[in-house]
Amino acid sequence: MTHSSIQTVILAAGKSTRMKSSLPKALHAIAGKPMLGHVLASVAGLGEARHVLVVGPGMDAVSGYARSQMPDLAIAIQENQRGTGDAARAALPHITSGQGVALVIFGDTPLVRPETLAEMIAACRPETPVAVLGFEARDPAAYGRLVLDKGMLVKIVERKDATEEEARITLCNGGAMAVRLEQLGDLLSLLRDNNKAREFYLTDVVAHARAAGLACAVVHAPEADIQGVNSRADLAVVEAEMQRRLRARVMEQGVTLSDPETVYLSTDTIIGQDVTIGQNVVIGPGVEIASGVTIKPFCHIEGGKIAEGAQIGPYARIRPGSEIGREVHIGNFVETKKAKIEDGAKINHLSYIGDARVGARANIGAGTITCNYDGFNKHFTDIGAGAFIGSNSSLVAPVKIGDGAYTGSGSVITKDVAPDALAVERSKQFEKPGWAASFRARFMDHKKAGE
Ligand code: UD1
Ligand code: MG
Repeated sequence: MTHSSIQTVILAAGKSTRMKSSLPKALHAIAGKPMLGHVLASVAGLGEARHVLVVGPGMDAVSGYARSQMPDLAIAIQENQRGTGDAARAALPHITSGQGVALVIFGDTPLVRPETLAEMIAACRPETPVAVLGFEARDPAAYGRLVLDKGMLVKIVERKDATEEEARITLCNGGAMAVRLEQLGDLLSLLRDNNKAREFYLTDVVAHARAAGLACAVVHAPEADIQGVNSRADLAVVEAEMQRRLRARVMEQGVTLSDPETVYLSTDTIIGQDVTIGQNVVIGPGVEIASGVTIKPFCHIEGGKIAEGAQIGPYARIRPGSEIGREVHIGNFVETKKAKIEDGAKINHLSYIGDARVGARANIGAGTITCNYDGFNKHFTDIGAGAFIGSNSSLVAPVKIGDGAYTGSGSVITKDVAPDALAVERSKQFEKPGWAASFRARFMDHKKAGE
C-alpha cells in the first residue's frame, strides 16, 4: 500500500478491576449505549479508515458487540494484559504497513470527539510522527503527565512513576496517540516494562521517539471530552457530560425542556420540533418522538414511537413496542407495552395495555387492564375503533372488542364482543330499602347501652 492510510486501534483488553463488575468495562452503557459504541461512532466519523479492536481472550461479548456495530472491524487478541503498549503491539499483525497514520485510542474514553481525532491525524506528519492528546486537568489524579521542555513534548510519565515535581504538572495525557505507520513497528518494539507497574506503556513511545530525534506534537482538547472511565464514579461523570451534550442538541433542534437537568435522553433518541418535555422524564433507548408531542413530568419511555400531537403523562410508562398514534392521550399511571394505540384514542388513567391494538378514537376507562399473560404465553387484545371500555374492565386475552362496542364498568371480558354491542359481565345490583338506617339505629342502641 503506497498511498497514505488511516488505521485506528481501539484498546479494550484491560482488566478494569476498579469497575468491580462482571461486565467488561467497554460494555458499560453511557446514555443507553455501550461505552465502546461511542468510541466506534467517533472513529467511524473519520471517513475511510481501517479499524482494529484489541480485546482479551474470552472477551467475546465485547468483540461480538463491536462487530454488530462495525461488521468489517478486525479483532486482535492480547493474550496477557501487560499494558497499553503491549495491547497496541497485539494489533500490529492487522495493520498494513506503508505510509499513513495509526491512531491508538482507548475504549474507556467515550467522550472524545471525532473532530479532535481528525486533528490528531492531521498533526501526525512526517515532521512530527507522533501526536498525543493533551488536556489541562483540574485534578490530574492518576492521569499520565505530559513533560515539556522549551514547549516541546519530551516524555509522558505515569503518576506512579512521577517525581514530586512531575506530579505537579497539570497538562495530562488524554490517552489517544497518533503515530506514523512508517515508525510504528520500530517504536513499539522499543517499549520495556521497566516501571512501577511492570507494564509496557504506550506512553513511552514519546521518549523513544525523542531519543531517535523525532518530534512529538500535542493536540489539546477540553477536559470534559477526555474523561476516562476507570471506576463507577468516572462512569457517572461521563454520563453527566453526555447528558449535557444530548440536552443541548435537542434544545438546539427546537425541543423545550422545562428543567433540562432532570431530563435523561439516549444517544439514539429522535425528537421532532416543538416537543415539550416536562421535569423528571427518562427516555431510554429506541425512542422516536414526532413534532408537537407533549411529555408531561415523571414519564419513563423506552423503545416506542410517539406520533404528532400526542400527550403523554404525567407519570406514564411507555415500554418497548409501543406505537402511540397522533393526538393520542396517555394519562397518569398508564403503562403500554407492545401496543398500537391508533390516532385519537384516549387512555387517561391507571391502565395496563400490553400486546394490544386500541383502535382510533377508542376510549379506555380508568383501571382497564389487558390480561395478556397466562403464565406461559402472551395473548393479544384487539379493541376496535371508537370502542368504549368501561372503567375497571379486565380484558382477558385473546379477545376482540368490535368497533364501536361498549363494555360495562367492572366487567371481566373473556369472550369477543360484536361491533356496536354492549357487553356487561357482573352480578345484578339489588337494593334493600331502609336497610342502612335500621343498621345504624341498631348499633347506636348497643353503644348507648355501653355494650
Ligand atoms: C492511560 C494512560 C494515561 C492516561 C489515561 C487516560 C498508559 C500507560 N496510561 O491510563 O497516561 O492519562 O489512560 O485515560 O497508557 N488496555 C488494554 N490492555 C492492557 C492495558 C490496558 O487493552 O494491557 C486498555 C484498557 O482496556 C483501556 C485502555 O487500554 O481501554 C487504557 O487502560 P487503563 O488501564 O484504563 O489506563 P489508565 O490507567 O487509564
Ligand atoms: Mg483508563
